[in-house]
This record gives sequence, structure tokens and C-alpha cells, in this order.
Amino acid sequence: MKLMLRPLLFHLLLFCATQTFGVKIQSVPEVISEGLIETELEKTVSLVCHETQVDEELVWLRNGAVVNLKEGNKNGQSSVCVKPIYDDNGATFTCHLKKNATVTASVTLNVTYHPQLSGSEEVAVEEEAELVLQCDIWANPPVSSVSWTLNGSIVDLTAGGFLLTNDAFTSQLTAKDVEKTLHEGTYQCSATSPKFGDYSKQFSVTVTENTFKFPLMPMVAGLVVVCLTVLLAVFSRWKRIKKCCK
Ligand SMILES: *[C@@H]1O[C@H](CO)[C@@H](O)[C@H](O)[C@H]1NC(C)=O
Ligand SMILES: *[C@@H]1O[C@H](CO)[C@@H](O)[C@H](O)[C@H]1NC(C)=O
Ligand SMILES: *[C@@H]1O[C@H](CO)[C@@H](O)[C@H](O)[C@H]1NC(C)=O
Repeated sequence: MKLMLRPLLFHLLLFCATQTFGVKIQSVPEVISEGLIETELEKTVSLVCHETQVDEELVWLRNGAVVNLKEGNKNGQSSVCVKPIYDDNGATFTCHLKKNATVTASVTLNVTYHPQLSGSEEVAVEEEAELVLQCDIWANPPVSSVSWTLNGSIVDLTAGGFLLTNDAFTSQLTAKDVEKTLHEGTYQCSATSPKFGDYSKQFSVTVTENTFKFPLMPMVAGLVVVCLTVLLAVFSRWKRIKKCCK
């Protein structure tokens, strides 16, 4: 008990020495710099707001919106736990005295996550059609590089007539006018995260024969026109036909 009390007392003394009036946030994991806390998806962050002197009611805000607190978690000291989701990246948590919002402290979360790339997907594409392969490379910190391979070698963009486009969210490889000899095989996209390492996803692409497409729509349209013409013809001669039948 004594051993545990000693550091606590020491911290309390420090508080009193450096700050006479105010609120302070302690967190696990600790703030690294400029009020920034680095954590990962689903990795719980615990924030405790301490008052340095009076036993006043405290208020917590997340991006300016009040956080509901239970009774007994408001006066003198108040804690909140955050299990971060993507949306918590960049979220600011602020604690202030209820009766004086200028007595305040805040921290901001830096939620890191790796690109969601794994497993493999079967892709079938018809000859002469368009092949589109997409990889989700969104990550924090952003990925430092993305590469595509076909059967284990870097995709030759010009030889295969490929187009490669990347933005912060997706890397997309497309080929118009697919040919079996050029485009069938195992593709893999790999993204490197400076924090989490390499992630990749595979695509097994098979190129199928160009099936004969029955021209259904033009046929239907043609039939409709023929029927309408016949109907109109019959209708315009209805009277005459009637007469004939009499
Ligand atoms: C709120 O706190 C600030 C800083 O301690 C102080 O200057 C100010 O007078 C307080 N305002 C009220 C209404 O108590
Ligand atoms: C968040 O943490 C990552 C990993 O350390 C870092 O690269 C990135 O710059 C941080 N983001 C901000 C906004 O500080
Ligand atoms: C990739 O490998 C498969 C299986 O060995 C082969 O059938 C295919 O032709 C190869 N693709 C290319 C573009 O070389």
C-alpha cells in the first residue's frame, strides 16, 4: 500500500506545484506530442480528466458533442474509454469544468490502421471484355508503395495494355479488350504500410470464350413494331372488314 501511495503522492505534489487551478487529462496510452494520442483500431484508449483543486462537476466532449457520463463519474475526476473505430481518427476529446468552460484540456486521437488486403478472389472475364481489379489501400499512416504482379512478375503495363490508377483509397488495374494469352493468370496487389508492413490480395483471373450474345432487345423491339403495324392496319380497316363479314 505504501509503495503504491508514494508515486501517487508524488504526482499530486507535482500537480499542485505546477498548476494551481485547472483540469488535466491523463491517458493510456500516453500523449506523445501536442495532445496527440496514438492508438490502433479497437485498441482501447482510457482518458481520465483530473481537476487540480476544487471538487467541481466535469464535462466531456467528443468533437464538441457532450459525452454522457454516469453519476459518480463527474465530480473531481471523470474517465471515458474509447474503443476506436475508423471514425475516431482525428477525433478530439475535451474535458472542462461544467461551470467554467474556459478551464479546459483536450487530446486528439491518431487511430492507425493497415490496408484491408487479404485472401484471394476468383475473377472470370470474357475475351474482348474489360478486366477490372481493385484493391483497397486506405490506411493510416498512408501506404508508402503499391505494386501489382502477374504470375509472380511485376505487371508489364505496356505489353498487356493495362491502365493502373491509384488514389488514397484504391489501386485499380484495368485492361480493355482482354486476351487469354496476355491476361489470364494469378494477379496480386501488395501495399506497404510504413507502420504495419506488407499486405496483399490475390486474384485468379480466368478468361472465358466470348459467348454469342443473342440480340434479344433488337428482336423484341422489331416484333413490337411489326405487331403495332399489323394492329393499326387491322384497326383502320375494321369497318371495311366488318362490312365484308356481314
Ligand atoms: C473561468 O476560469 C478562468 C480561468 O481560470 C477565469 O479567469 C475566469 O474568471 C473564470 N470565469 C468564471 C465565470 O468563473
Ligand atoms: C499518426 O501516427 C502515424 C504513425 O506513427 C504517423 O505516421 C502519422 O503522422 C500520425 N498522424 C498525425 C496526424 O500525426
Ligand atoms: C500465368 O500462369 C498460368 C498458369 O501457369 C498460365 O496458364 C498463364 O498463361 C500465365 N499467364 C501469363 C500472362 O503468362
